[in-house]
Amino acid sequence: MSILPLLLRNGRRAVSVIRGGRTATEALSGVHPVARRFIIDMSYSAHFMDFNGSSIPSSMKKLVVNKLSPNFREAVSTQTVAVPTPGDADLLVRNRFVGINASDINYSAGRYDPSVKPPFDTGFEGIGEVVGLGLSASSSHTVGDTVAYFGSGAFAEYTVVPAKESVPVPAVKPEFLTLLVSGATAYIALKRLGDLAKGETVLVTAAAGGTGQFAVQFAKQAGCHVIGTCSSNEKAGFLKSIGCDRPINYTTEDLAKTLRKEYPQGIDVVYESVGGSVFELAVNSLAKKGRLIVIGFISGYQTASGIPPFRGGTLPVKLLQKSASIRGFFLPHFLSDYREALGSMMQMYAKGKLVCEVDCGDLTQEGRFVGLESVFRAVDYMYAGKNLGKVVVEVAPPPVSNSKL
Ligand SMILES: NC(=O)c1ccc[n+]([C@@H]2O[C@H](COP(=O)([O-])OP(=O)(O)OC[C@H]3O[C@@H](n4cnc5c(N)ncnc54)[C@H](OP(=O)(O)O)[C@@H]3O)[C@@H](O)[C@H]2O)c1
Repeated sequence: MSILPLLLRNGRRAVSVIRGGRTATEALSGVHPVARRFIIDMSYSAHFMDFNGSSIPSSMKKLVVNKLSPNFREAVSTQTVAVPTPGDADLLVRNRFVGINASDINYSAGRYDPSVKPPFDTGFEGIGEVVGLGLSASSSHTVGDTVAYFGSGAFAEYTVVPAKESVPVPAVKPEFLTLLVSGATAYIALKRLGDLAKGETVLVTAAAGGTGQFAVQFAKQAGCHVIGTCSSNEKAGFLKSIGCDRPINYTTEDLAKTLRKEYPQGIDVVYESVGGSVFELAVNSLAKKGRLIVIGFISGYQTASGIPPFRGGTLPVKLLQKSASIRGFFLPHFLSDYREALGSMMQMYAKGKLVCEVDCGDLTQEGRFVGLESVFRAVDYMYAGKNLGKVVVEVAPPPVSNSKL
C-alpha cells in the first residue's frame, strides 16, 4: 500500500503509513475491504493526520454513480471505502456540510463529460476542516484549518482537495457553502453578461432557490427593479425580505398575464434557470436591447434528454426585432473571476449586506438532512420545489472542543 506524505514541521519529521489487509471483523461483516491506518510517529501525528486527538477512521462512506441516469436514486449508491490519502499538495477534508445542486442529476446522468464511465464520485461542493495533508500543502495549511471547496467528489465523509483549490473560510458555517457555486454563478453571470444599469428591470426565475436568491440581491444592489418567480407564498415573502420588488407566485398568479400587464415595456435582463415554456415566455417578454442569460433549464433535467421542449423557429426574428440577445453562462468557464467573486461576497456577508439562506430540510416530515444518506432526500426535496434557499446536507456533527467550528 502507499506511504503517506512525509511531513517536516518545526524541523522535525513525522511519517505515517497505510497498511492494507482485512480484519476478521471486516471479513465476517462483509464490509468492503478497507485500509487500516497506522500512525508511526505519534508525537507529531496530531499536526497532520490526526485531529483533536481522535484518529481518522480507516473507512468512510461516499456516494458513487454506478449507472448513468438522471434519476439520482437509481444512478447513485452508498459505498464504504478506505479514507483516501492526500497527495503531496493535497488536503484531506472532513466534510461537515455539502451543497446540493440542480445539476447533481445532470452529473449522475453523465451529461457533464460523456467520456467518463461509471463508477465515479459525485457532489460538487463541501465545507469542513482539514484533518490531514501532504508535505507541500503544509506550507500553506495545517490540521484544523477550516476550508470550503468546489470540485467533484464532495458527497463523501472525507474528500481529498488540492490545497490550492481550497477556499479558506473563517468558520464551518453552511452559509459560506452557499457562495461557492450558487452565489458565484449569480455574481459572475450578472457582472459579466448582465450589463445591468440602474433603473433596469430584471426577472429572476426560480428566484427563491440556491442561485436565484443571490441574483435577486445583486440585481437589487445594482439599482434595478427586480421581479422573482417562485411556487409558494412563503417563498414570495422571503423574496420580499431580500429586496425583490415583485415576487410572483406562479401557482396563484398567471406569469405571462402579470408580466404583460405590469411590465408593458418589457424586461431588460432575465436570469433564467427553468427553461421550456418559462424560457419562451421570458424571450417573449424581453424589452428592446434586452439580455436573457441562460443559467439552466431545470424543467428538463429529469427527462431522458435533459432538455425541455422548445419551439425555436421564430427565435431569430424575435431577437432581431428587439435587438435582444441570449447569452449562455457556465461557471467553470469563468474561473478567472472566481476568487474575486468569493472574496467580495464573503465581505458582503460579513458586513451583513448579503443574505445567504440555507435550507437543511429542518421543516420536512423526516427532519433535518443529517448524514450522507440524506443527500438522496435532499435531491428529491429540491426537485419537488420545496426548498427555500440553498439546499445543504449536514454530513457530520462538529468535532468536540474546537472553538473555530
Ligand atoms: N450555469 C451554471 O454555471 C449554473 C450554476 C449553478 C446553478 N445553475 C442552474 O441554476 C438553476 C437553479 O439551480 P440551484 O442548484 O440553485 O437550484 P435551486 O434554485 O435551489 O432549486 C431549484 C428550484 O427550481 C424550481 N424547480 C425545481 N424542479 C423544477 C422543475 N422540474 N421544473 C421547474 N422548476 C423546478 C423550484 O423553485 P420554485 O418551485 O420556486 O419554482 C426549486 O426550488 C438550475 O437550472 C441550475 O442548473 C447553473
